[in-house]
Amino acid sequence: PAAVKAKILSLTPLRGKRARVLGWVHRLRSQKDIIFIVLRDGTGYLQAVLSGTPAQTYEALTLTLESTVELIGTLQPTPEGKTAPGGHELIVDFWRTLGTAPGGDDAFTNRLNEKSDPSILADLRHLVLRGENASSVLRLRAAMLSAFRAALSDHHLMEVTPPCLVQTQVEGGATLFKLEYYGQPAFLTQSSQLYLETCLPSLGDVFCVQESFRAENSHTRRHLSEYTHLEAELAFITFDDLMDHIETIICETVDKLLQNESSAALIRQLNPSFTPPARPFKRLSYVDAIAWLNEHGILHEAEDADGNVIKDASGEPTMVPHAIGDDIAEAAERKMTDIIGTPIFLHSFPAELKAFYMKKKEGTTTPPATAGSGGRSGIFTESCDLLMPGVGEIVGGSMRIADIDELLAAYKREGIDPAPYYWFTDQRKYGTCEHGGYGLGVERFLAWLANRYTIRECTLYPRWPGRATP
Ligand code: 4AD
Ligand code: MG
Repeated sequence: PAAVKAKILSLTPLRGKRARVLGWVHRLRSQKDIIFIVLRDGTGYLQAVLSGTPAQTYEALTLTLESTVELIGTLQPTPEGKTAPGGHELIVDFWRTLGTAPGGDDAFTNRLNEKSDPSILADLRHLVLRGENASSVLRLRAAMLSAFRAALSDHHLMEVTPPCLVQTQVEGGATLFKLEYYGQPAFLTQSSQLYLETCLPSLGDVFCVQESFRAENSHTRRHLSEYTHLEAELAFITFDDLMDHIETIICETVDKLLQNESSAALIRQLNPSFTPPARPFKRLSYVDAIAWLNEHGILHEAEDADGNVIKDASGEPTMVPHAIGDDIAEAAERKMTDIIGTPIFLHSFPAELKAFYMKKKEGTTTPPATAGSGGRSGIFTESCDLLMPGVGEIVGGSMRIADIDELLAAYKREGIDPAPYYWFTDQRKYGTCEHGGYGLGVERFLAWLANRYTIRECTLYPRWPGRATP
């Protein structure tokens, strides 16, 4: 009888029938006159049994890992006492090789494993992706993006697609990738936030899933030069509403992933000890966080007036307690998050540490007499970072300046030419509203969910300083 062509994922209804499957030889094991193949087609793994006379199996001995093959046979439930993916195996009666692979010592699978030189793994990322863990991470990423979209849609946010080529900065000029655009200067976008703000009056609350680019010379396990940025913007909300919303979207996304059998299985495979975070998330103001760090003896590198790290005689940085106004560096942030061990909303940062567009907190527009404020303005903002154990900051958000005069003053203070921002300023001219939003680093969220050491594993082809290949 004719065999039905099928993807591995949808084989179950063909049990007891003849099936034709195409894919890559993922694993290969030969015994006397029987050969076991684990076939991979991207939708799953299938155990196939090639047996017969020694002459037939001799041909099968030329098979190599990663060759492409066509297999035709009868699909049978796995015999009692044995396990195979999907609970069945294909008893093959016809097969052929479609594309060969080098095999032997040349087979990349023999050379690549988690202990391989990272730069070789990076050069061979296109082959590494064929591995079970690397492909599972990307599969979970796809499920995660669908779950986020569904959660955001449940809350009536509409998806838009802002441009990547822009002529305005959002998160400071220092991290812009500059390019020439038909004779004009332009940049790769750092954040789509300003465009999302312009959508509120026409589409209501909106979100996007867009690449953002940061020219940061940061060789850390949580920085990429290009990353996927999930950003959302909401109108007529308060700062508390904003943090409630971020928490809700994250928890509902996690719930959706755990409720779905295949994504729950991926989480179990990659991160067996994963437990969904308890609500509500802890909220800690910046000022309280500084006190917490000092109480716990977590120091930071002393800097001189120009921002250079002060070193002692042996060249080690001088470590000092945190003062109000200091940036909470990655190391301190991570230590705090790991000690507390739960998600934390760190909020109300000093204006000096944050972007120009952030709304100032009521009652902090005149400098309070804070000990150690070091001559800084004492102005705080309605801003929040969400910190996750193991990763640190995964979300940055804030309420935005709604008042036009305040915004014009903010451009001035930051030395930003308001001219290219006319369309952003106009939002305050044509019916302003209290609004706020956030950006979530997709790779950082996935590193938390899938317990990956570095976010470089959490995107298809990661970009970091010096790397844009493959
Ligand atoms: O904190 P950031 O810079 O905030 C913004 O860009 C806002 N305009 C977002 C908004 O309000 N719409 O970036 C937001 C998040 C960070 O919390 C982090 O998760 C991620 O983007 N991120 C990076 N991820 C990977 N590599 C980098 N270099 C990243 N920089 C930021
Ligand atoms: Mg941030």
